[in-house]
Amino acid sequence: MKKIQHLFSFFKDQVVADKNVSHDTVLSAFVEFVLRQEEILLPLNPETFAKFERDVSALSKKEKALLHTRADELHDARTRRIAGQFYTPVEFVELAHELMDVRLGADWRENYIVWDAAAGSLNLTRGYPFKELYSSTLQQEEVDRNPVGDPATESFFQFDFLSGDLSKLPKGLRHALEMDKPILFFMNPPYSTGAKERIEFGTKTKFLTHVQVQSRRMGLSTTAKDLYAQFMLRIMLLVRHYKLTRVVYAVFSPLTFLSSDNLKTFRKRWCDIFCFDRGILFDAGHFSGTALNWAIQFSIWKQGEKSQTSGFKYFIVEKDKSGGIVKTGTKYVHNLDMPHPQFKRLTPDWLASPVTLPTRFLPGVTTSFEVVNSVKEGFDGTNRVSADHLGKLCYDPPMTVFGAGNAYGRPGYIINTTTVGNLEITPRNFERVMALLATARSLDKSFVDQKDYMYTPNESLPEWQRYVSDAVVFGLVSNGSSHISRYDVEWYGQRYQLPNEFFWMTSSAIRDYAERYHDKKALYSLEISPNERFAAKWLCLSGPRALSPEATAVLDFVTDLTHDTFQERAEFDKARPEIQICNWDAGWWQLKELWKIVAKEKFKELVRLRNELSASLRSRIRLLGWLRPRDS
Ligand SMILES: C[S@@+](CC[C@H](N)C(=O)[O-])C[C@H]1O[C@@H](n2cnc3c(N)ncnc32)[C@H](O)[C@@H]1O
Repeated sequence: MKKIQHLFSFFKDQVVADKNVSHDTVLSAFVEFVLRQEEILLPLNPETFAKFERDVSALSKKEKALLHTRADELHDARTRRIAGQFYTPVEFVELAHELMDVRLGADWRENYIVWDAAAGSLNLTRGYPFKELYSSTLQQEEVDRNPVGDPATESFFQFDFLSGDLSKLPKGLRHALEMDKPILFFMNPPYSTGAKERIEFGTKTKFLTHVQVQSRRMGLSTTAKDLYAQFMLRIMLLVRHYKLTRVVYAVFSPLTFLSSDNLKTFRKRWCDIFCFDRGILFDAGHFSGTALNWAIQFSIWKQGEKSQTSGFKYFIVEKDKSGGIVKTGTKYVHNLDMPHPQFKRLTPDWLASPVTLPTRFLPGVTTSFEVVNSVKEGFDGTNRVSADHLGKLCYDPPMTVFGAGNAYGRPGYIINTTTVGNLEITPRNFERVMALLATARSLDKSFVDQKDYMYTPNESLPEWQRYVSDAVVFGLVSNGSSHISRYDVEWYGQRYQLPNEFFWMTSSAIRDYAERYHDKKALYSLEISPNERFAAKWLCLSGPRALSPEATAVLDFVTDLTHDTFQERAEFDKARPEIQICNWDAGWWQLKELWKIVAKEKFKELVRLRNELSASLRSRIRLLGWLRPRDS
């Protein structure tokens, strides 16, 4: 396929003289010329065309056949990304057919009138015999480029499934709908969000499809964002309009329609009509042109019985070394539709620590060490924090496996640039916040669990306390922890001190170093803010904490590294004064800057130890109930 790809790039970039011709038109001309020697009607560069012609005639039959089956891969990747079009590779088409043979009977291609309403290049059906196959797609160019295998039983026509006028459908298909014949929708619709895209401008310009208008009337407006869900809505509308009773839907799509809490109403209505039969789950990376690490599912839905709206059983499939598809496990896809006695959604309430009076004012701190303020001038309520304020936590409020990764904690008021949750950390929620931070950072973010919600962990388990202690240690060195201290911050005529309450060593230990290495700045910061920091009290001064060997290794190493590099601080401070490395309680965001320069190898070792601790935490996540088991 590489040779074909090169040839196509050469044709597009050097043979076609007019650069304003659309990618699709160039592709059509290329395919027509290579496969059918059709005359190219575009303005061409005669010198490069001669070479191109020679290269085409040198292509083997096998290479040409490849172009026939895999022309989709020549689509412009950017265009494809914007339109959410992920064409189905042949192995996955075969897998879908195999599953349908088993679930619907090997003669399903004869027993059903099959309609692929997002057919593109006919990937799903090409090469299989059907008794009555209808394929339709958005672009006339796609229809022109892909002749059907057998015109006696197959037809391919342009039809916008989301807005098209049903009276324009072929007679046979209309008849099938009107007579409630068994109809099987088999498709891989586009996955993008946004109504319809004006791809030629490279932006997503919205205008409403017919289905969107209808779905708003049905009270399902949140569904209308996803094109693949709009395809499902259109099917629901067809079922209603024609009073269909024997529809089967077999579809490749993202998983969101089964997991997202926003699509609860849609899911309920869908499951009132269709019953989940079987599903396969795999990494989107297997569909060319997509990013790795999010899930695509294939599932079969039958009309007749009502389906449960949660707990959909999927087989996980992956490719083995030889490229064959193998089953590697089972995954039950859950959502929050039904309350569960054990797995309760992790909510901001579990984390919250209500503000206590009296409050105090704090200027804001950004991750780039800047002190800023969300208030333009003077003070108002925005930056007021509890008297026992330790820092802030930012997190994604719908806490899912992928969303939770946003969590970080730091002293000072947090300036939010995104819509993440912003929560105050105090001694009252310190343990829970640290546990969440470590969990969010350690989660295995694989496509299998991507859409899973997180649950409230079981704090009564004996392992909980050790997990929390390990999490506190992990937090000291995690990139999710933007721990810093800032002193003598001038703000509207007042001076503020922002200690790092997440510092773990005692003031006396640091005073020793500061005196030994004559670090005046460190001694000054000890003078203006001498109190023991909260993490030091929690971790070291309030009796021994149960720690795993991995956490002990990290704690010992980071403590030694702080000592070993203390004398480098003054020099580093000259080069990077904005970091304020000499603050006695300088935190991870300051220390790592120093260590990356003055102790490269040891820093690498620290990262290695941190990763081991992370793996240890990860191994306990399901045990503690943060996530549901995959296989039930
Ligand atoms: C993900 S591709 C799948 C193509 C092919 N079925 C496959 O699996 O390889 C989605 C196809 O849906 C078509 N499409 C997008 N919006 C559509 C619409 N509103 N009506 C019909 N087809 C549409 C696109 O042109 C594209 O060919």
